[in-house]
Amino acid sequence: MPSLQLSSGLTPISGWSGDCLILGCFQTDDGIVWPAGIEAIDASDWEGAIAELAAETEFKAKAGSTAATRIGRAIRKVVLVGLGKADKFATEILRNAAAAGLRKANSLKAKTVAFAFPDSELEAEECLQAMAEGVLLVAHRDVRFKSGTENGNGCNIESAVFLGLEPNEPALARAREVAAGTILARELVAAPANIVTPLALADAARAIAVEYGLDVEVLGWAECEALGMGAFLGVAQASDLPPQFIHLTYRPVGEPKRRLAIIGKGVTFDSGGLNLKTSMASIGMMKTDMGGAAATLGAARAIAALKPNAEVHFIVAATENMISGRALHPGDILTASNQKTIEINNTDAEGRLTLADALVFADKLELDAIVDLATLTGAIMVALGKRISGLFTPDEALAAELKAAAERSGEQIWQMPLEDSYAESLSSVVADMKNTGSRDGGSISAALFLQRFVDKTPWAHLDIAGTVWTDKDYSYHNKGATGYGVRTLVEWVLA
Ligand code: BES
Ligand code: MN
Ligand code: ZN
Repeated sequence: MPSLQLSSGLTPISGWSGDCLILGCFQTDDGIVWPAGIEAIDASDWEGAIAELAAETEFKAKAGSTAATRIGRAIRKVVLVGLGKADKFATEILRNAAAAGLRKANSLKAKTVAFAFPDSELEAEECLQAMAEGVLLVAHRDVRFKSGTENGNGCNIESAVFLGLEPNEPALARAREVAAGTILARELVAAPANIVTPLALADAARAIAVEYGLDVEVLGWAECEALGMGAFLGVAQASDLPPQFIHLTYRPVGEPKRRLAIIGKGVTFDSGGLNLKTSMASIGMMKTDMGGAAATLGAARAIAALKPNAEVHFIVAATENMISGRALHPGDILTASNQKTIEINNTDAEGRLTLADALVFADKLELDAIVDLATLTGAIMVALGKRISGLFTPDEALAAELKAAAERSGEQIWQMPLEDSYAESLSSVVADMKNTGSRDGGSISAALFLQRFVDKTPWAHLDIAGTVWTDKDYSYHNKGATGYGVRTLVEWVLA
């Protein structure tokens, strides 16, 4: 990403010159609410070009709509961005609008842009951070694996200034850290399985530890074996790559207010094992099966930079799920680190096996809460689609915290039932449980399986199988990895 300079200031619009001025506008029943002073400037300096643009394009300021025109010398172009009705306004609308404006300005080849949005009920500081996040996230294009210097769909914006908002470096710094964490997660997810291996995830954790002074411990096969992690190692046993159990710890200065764990599923490639995936089951997308681990490490980076007063353990049991002569056979029985035995009736339900031992490990740390994120089930996409993750927890207080955090971040989550009676389908004739239950409600039985590995700590699980990747550009995401989870986790820990 060419570095994008962000700033804010109370400079009047007439005092700014550059390539593109992006104007946010509210929709009303009978017209448009413009940023303060625009109508006067339009009439006096721009010969009514803005009023004409709105009329000609029938621009009604609907949320997400845009219109653009060439305007003059000092300010070359103007982009209008709709914010929708003022009573529906929220920070997420602002993030989206800033991103929509930037996309449009970039397509018009602008390099220097300014945003001017009307006043609203929202706090100025919150608005600034949200707009900056929208800009930084939409500007990120992942071209690491493209050889050409020609980068036709890149983002070439060099600077963005938010007019009408006081200079506020801390708000911009927060946006930069949150965006950097999200971008780290995107890049880990988007890089293929021949690059992001379990060892590469461990290296990413070590790099964060070195940069921000965190503690990091990485357990190899023998150490995991000594801890009895038979479920995790069962998944790992067919891979030629060594599994890595990653434990990164952020400790604040002084006594922490809370002690938390974030666990991410880190299957760097999920072939399905002997219950091999088909193309129909998207085997070609299974590099993204470490999306939970990516969110965990992205959040670790942002949290380490923002220094909240909470101790946070970031845990990833990283491995591939492969086939070989050493692969799990369907029917094998594994013993997890809490001594529970698991009959493997489907080798493709491997995520829950890796998470089982990670949950047992975290549960022993005497923490106030554990949240895991996992691309766990295709069924969650059937239920909630590609933009909403499923939240599962027996703890309503923790559910409320996560929903509030998601509300602030703009990432969508929906609480699903942990219906106890569905656990029946996990019962095994020969072991304590099978690793898969009924196909109906598959995301629920997966969550119920995980619950059996948490004994005493308040716990929540986010099934992010649908949300880690997008095939379309939308809001502040470009096609590809979304970095889903980082921003909600940061909001949760900072709250
Ligand atoms: N990694 C997959 C879930 C997944 C599927 C993520 C599609 C993203 C896109 C997981 O390991 C898996 O294979 N789950 C199985 C569970 C089944 C065997 C009970 C599934 O969803 O089909
Ligand atoms: Mn699988
Ligand atoms: Zn998987």
